[in-house]
Order: sequence, then C-alpha cells, then structure tokens
Amino acid sequence: MDSSISKLANQIKGINTSFKKDLSKLSNISDFETCKAKYLGKKSKLQSILEKVYKLSAEDKKVIGKEANLLKVEIAKALDEKFKELKLKGLKDQEEAEEIDVTLPGIKTHAGHTNVITQTIWQCEDIFQKMGFEIEYPYQIDDDYHNFESVNIPPNHPARDGWDTFWTKDGQIAITHTSSMQNRVIKSHEPPIRVIIPGRCFRNEATDPRHEHTFYQIEGVYIDKQVSLTDMLGTLKEFFSKFYEKDLEVKFSPDYFPFVEPGGQIALSCIICDGKGCDVCKKTGWLEILGCGMIHPSVLSMAGLDPQTYSGFAWGFGVERLVMLKYNIDDIRNFHSGNLEFIRQF
Ligand code: FA5
Repeated sequence: MDSSISKLANQIKGINTSFKKDLSKLSNISDFETCKAKYLGKKSKLQSILEKVYKLSAEDKKVIGKEANLLKVEIAKALDEKFKELKLKGLKDQEEAEEIDVTLPGIKTHAGHTNVITQTIWQCEDIFQKMGFEIEYPYQIDDDYHNFESVNIPPNHPARDGWDTFWTKDGQIAITHTSSMQNRVIKSHEPPIRVIIPGRCFRNEATDPRHEHTFYQIEGVYIDKQVSLTDMLGTLKEFFSKFYEKDLEVKFSPDYFPFVEPGGQIALSCIICDGKGCDVCKKTGWLEILGCGMIHPSVLSMAGLDPQTYSGFAWGFGVERLVMLKYNIDDIRNFHSGNLEFIRQF
C-alpha cells in the first residue's frame, strides 16, 4: 500500500473514531443535525474521500472505496438510531414539563354573582307571589302626572318638598318613589288587585348612613271591596315574618302621605337586639322601615275606580333598609361604594 493510500485509510479510521466520540456526546436534536452534517454532509471529510476514490486504481478502489462506503453506511445507521432515541427522550422531557398533577386543587376563578339587592328583590318577589301578588316594574324616567299628580300631589303642593327630585331638561322625572306606578296599575287591572312594584328610585338629597341618592323600593297595591287597615297590617306582618324567618312585632304609627288616608309608618321590632334596644335601633327597640296607608279616595277615582265601592291599601319600603337590618349593616352607602370586599360577602 503506497503512502497516499495508507493516508486515506488512516483518515477513514480517524473519522470513525471521532464520529463515535461525537455520537456518545449527542443529547439533543439540534446538536444531532450539526453532527449529521459534519459526518455525512456534502462538505464532510468522508464525502471528500469518497470523491477521490474514482481516481484510484481498481485495486485501491476496492480497499478504500469499500472502507469509506462501509463507514458511511455505519454512520448513517448509527445516526438513525440516535435520532429515534433523541426524539423519544424529547417527548418524555416534554411530557414531564407539561405534566399536570391532578391531585392538586385547581386554580380558583372568580365568577361573578348576583348583587345582594337583586337577591333580596327576588326573595321579596317570591314571598309576595306566594301570597297572591303579581309583579310590575316602574319606568325609571316618568312624567310629573304619574310621579306626583296621580298620587294626589298637584303642582305647588307643599308635599313635593318631601321628595327631592331630579328633573330632566324637558321636565321628566327620575322617579322619586315607586308610587309612580299606582295610577297605571289600578287602571290596568280589575279588582281584586294585588300587585307589587320593585324599582329603582332617585332623590336629589345629601347622603348619610340611612339615605342614598339612588335606592330601591318595593311598592305594594292591594284593592278590593271592604279592605281594611287590619288587612294591611296582617299582610305586611306576614311578609316580614317570612323574610326575616322570625315572628316579628309590627308597630304602626300615623304619618302623612297625600296619597293615603289614614297614612302611617311601620316599624319592626329590632331583629338585631330582639327589641331590647341597641345602636342600630337607637335604643328604641323599633326600626322604621316603610310608609303605608289606605289608598286615598281621590287616587282611586283618578284611576277610574269608585271609592264608594272599592278600598285598598298601599305601601313602599326601602330594599336597602331591609338588607341592612338582616345583616346588621350600619351604612347604606356601602351598597354603591364599589367595595368588592363588601359585595362578595353576600
Ligand atoms: C314614600 O316614598 C312613599 N311613596 C311610600 C308610600 C307608598 C307611602 C304607598 C304610602 C303608600 P318615603 O319617602 O318615606 O315614602 O320612603 C319609603 C321608604 O323608602 C322609606 O321608609 C325607606 O325605607 C326608603 N327610603 C326613602 N328614602 C330613601 C333614601 N334616600 N335612601 C334609602 N332609602 C330610602
């Protein structure tokens, strides 16, 4: 074997040794590609030896060509196996990295929930429906006739001062009370009439712990022949006992509203201290909750009913006040404060 042939044979051996070394170090696909190019690529040492083979004598071709080609096949086979091994290892690594431990608790999402005012309105609707009442909802913007005149408060009547009013530029009203629906409800129903009207009211007044500019009322209208004040007291007592799940004492005291005669306020025995006297009821044992009374004959006749034949009662209570009593909340302004800690309690 002449020296140039033995040089080529040594080069083939060297390629084989260096390939085995590189192969043993391969640990990922990107290094694999570099290695493949180094040993089998067009510019690889082995390829340049193979290109020289056709210039050799037939005898040398046999030796060198055979060795070089054998090595090429061996390298290709070894690389193929290595590729499969690395691919499998990559998948396992990925599986481990993305593994989900199903025994761990999931990530809690914050789903919204119904506001306590809405929950309470739904609860009131449910109780009154079981007592035979229908439900109507008021317009939030209404006219002077429905908010005032039809409930016996003509223009310039001093009682208007009791309802600090938000007016629109064109003389409409953001309703100051749900009594704005009394006239429509009476006109659109045949007696016996039993309707409640839950709705949002607005008053242009300074806020304090018991007063908001925006709040909810639930109005009630009950009309039939020979309805009396005791029917009203019985109906409301029944409602409050169901709402607070307690047999509560109800106190009626006279008050003036132009649309009822007689008119009054109802106070509940304080559910927080059981009537013994506490800070919420200002040590009186009673909590004022609503305005009510026997519907004024003029209100009935303005809505087309004969007050000689029919009588009825109406009331309006504040929903926030109801909730405040239930959960011992001492400031009504919490409801609109946007304080999520407060809202999420319910
Ligand atoms: C009225 O609004 C009458 N329309 C109620 C009525 C209806 C009387 C039918 C007779 C017959 P008054 O202004 O008192 O009345 O309000 C009734 C209730 O609404 C109050 O007892 C209170 O619970 C609630 N309320 C009134 N003003 C506010 C306010 N600014 N913030 C929160 N709640 C209020």
